[in-house]
Amino acid sequence: MRSEIERHNRLYHVKDAPQITDAEYDRLFRELVELEKSHPELASAESPTQRVGGEPLPEFPSVRHRVPMLSLGNAFEEDEVRAFDKRVREALGVDEVEYAVEPKFDGLAISLGYRKGVFVQGATRGDGTTGEDVTPNLRTVRPIPLRLPKAADTEDLEVRGEVLYYTRDFEKLNERQRRAGEKEFANPRNGAAGSLRLLDSRITAQRPLRFFAYGVGMAAKARWKTHSEMLDRLDELGFPISKERGIARGVNGLMDFYKKIQTRRDQLPYAIDGVVYKVNRLDWQERLGFVSRAPRFALAHKYPAEEQTTEVLKIEVQVGRTGVLTPVARLKPVEVGGVTVTNATLHNEDDLRRKDVWAGDTVVVRRAGDVIPEVVRVQAPGARREEDRFSMPRACPVCQSPVVRLEGEAAARCTGGLYCSAQRKQALQHFVGRRAMDIEGVGEKLIEQLVDRGMVESPADLYSRLDKESLAGIERMADKSAQNVLDSIQHSREVDLARFVFALGMPGVGEEVAKILARHFGELQALLDADWPALAAGKESIRKENAKRKRKAEDPLAVPLEGIGPEIMESIEKFIHEPHNRKIIARLVDPAHGVRIKRAAAARPAAGGGKTFVLTGTLANMSRDQARALIESKGHKVAGSVSKKTDYVVAGAEAGSKLEQARTLGVEVLDEDDLRRLLGTD
Ligand code: IVH
Repeated sequence: MRSEIERHNRLYHVKDAPQITDAEYDRLFRELVELEKSHPELASAESPTQRVGGEPLPEFPSVRHRVPMLSLGNAFEEDEVRAFDKRVREALGVDEVEYAVEPKFDGLAISLGYRKGVFVQGATRGDGTTGEDVTPNLRTVRPIPLRLPKAADTEDLEVRGEVLYYTRDFEKLNERQRRAGEKEFANPRNGAAGSLRLLDSRITAQRPLRFFAYGVGMAAKARWKTHSEMLDRLDELGFPISKERGIARGVNGLMDFYKKIQTRRDQLPYAIDGVVYKVNRLDWQERLGFVSRAPRFALAHKYPAEEQTTEVLKIEVQVGRTGVLTPVARLKPVEVGGVTVTNATLHNEDDLRRKDVWAGDTVVVRRAGDVIPEVVRVQAPGARREEDRFSMPRACPVCQSPVVRLEGEAAARCTGGLYCSAQRKQALQHFVGRRAMDIEGVGEKLIEQLVDRGMVESPADLYSRLDKESLAGIERMADKSAQNVLDSIQHSREVDLARFVFALGMPGVGEEVAKILARHFGELQALLDADWPALAAGKESIRKENAKRKRKAEDPLAVPLEGIGPEIMESIEKFIHEPHNRKIIARLVDPAHGVRIKRAAAARPAAGGGKTFVLTGTLANMSRDQARALIESKGHKVAGSVSKKTDYVVAGAEAGSKLEQARTLGVEVLDEDDLRRLLGTD
């Protein structure tokens, strides 16, 4: 049972290919916990149940590494890579060398010791010779195998690699820390280091740490011919290995890999700070040996730093789509991670005060992937004259409407709404966006002109006020492009509810929330008519119900509207009750020249769906709403009354006339268990 659970663990955490549902996994896991409780003699440190952490330690014991954990030589420029390859070729006396190439993970180096296939000791790198024994913490890291298949090479094995956070997990962790009033981590690497060095492994167990293996630590290397074969074997043993690894020949091969990974860097789920080249043949590695603290056979080729220092020229305020005022630092241009940066966000007034940023200061700016560059901290204060002190303006810099900051909100907002041209432009941009109404050919420039000329004030105007003649007045708008714009507007008239709801741009309603709303309400009118204050008030009980049953929003059995907090509900209510917005929505769906919204259920037919169900009586383990959600989630329909067209009647306790009707008409009757089986959720 332990190995079965570990197998599923690996499928989930290492292979990203689970074969059973979370609920099934939980059930197996609970069963094992029970078994171990009733048979204490069978307890084992490498049981998956031990991944939850244990008693806190007073301190970490230190461990001496059997083989020192070394560092890597660095290169930034192609010339340095050439010199490295040349040194290697000359030392080996060959013309061309094959390299194993892989990302350089930006995490924390660790070593994992296995005896007779069992994980016995894990340590941090420390100073390379002596590290800290963090075994209890490493046991909680799900992708680290606790037990390996029995084999000659798992008798005594030391695997080395990097512990890290996926960027998205790290963001969630910081969000949680923030909400709990705890310290946030500066970056995923610090987060991983902090989490791995907690004396209470029960806390580490709650952190979604990951692990990637990149080598073995012993003379055991002699078992394989090449580094890539060794990684293949680690892969087979269940260790996570980077998908990005490869093989390259000569300097050109190395540079190609470097560039390929650089373009993919933003899309990788984890942070990297470069790539690593290793001579692939292990006997050649041996021959090359080491210089001081680094191997002669390997090289880290780093990417330009994503953090740089520069000067703040001034701090200005930008108005966002929903009226949020964001302080932005205008910077002396600086190259960060290969891109010139001239602006960096300071998020909001509180953030700016916390970091205490003034015009004239020298600051550290960070750019990670596609995200907007941000000011991380002040490196050195400037002159700081009183007139440089930042204060949030009381009037919107674009439309002069009053600025308010609501209680409990970090953001200051312009109250101008769609009267504010900055908001109007961005609302329109959001509306036409690829993931919203997807109106191709209507970009930032065109919107700017349409708004500035007063041709378009709201999204509804796109459908009612534009034609070839009016567009002809726009600069550089040829006949053909005008026609293209009109065609794509026409094309967008048919839209599904989730996209439409997302396109409206209600504060707090992103794509995911829009999908939940569409699934729940099915049609726009139901959403507009909903009793939002009541829904918001009922939120706590919804949350409790789902928590009690351990259901997440994706779970078809989750009580509806999970994933939508009371703040979002309030925001939806505010938006749809605002008369101006109501008018725009009404014009947007006006049958004469508006859009046509496809019903949500029809928009997402599930495989094997299309049956009609009728519910009657009280089911033991789910409410009627839950049963309905479950049935609809599989693409079926739920009807109110039984007819010849009904495929199934689901009957619970005290079913009444509908059950009789079903029997009369010969419609198949299911109980709750049948329903689950039929829908494949048992
Ligand atoms: S091999 C003897 N491969 O980089 C060579 N190291 O500067 C041992 N690192 O702290 C290292 N990704 O943890 C190797 N794919 C990779 C790596 C990698 C990250 C880290 C390593 C060490 C540092 C060495």
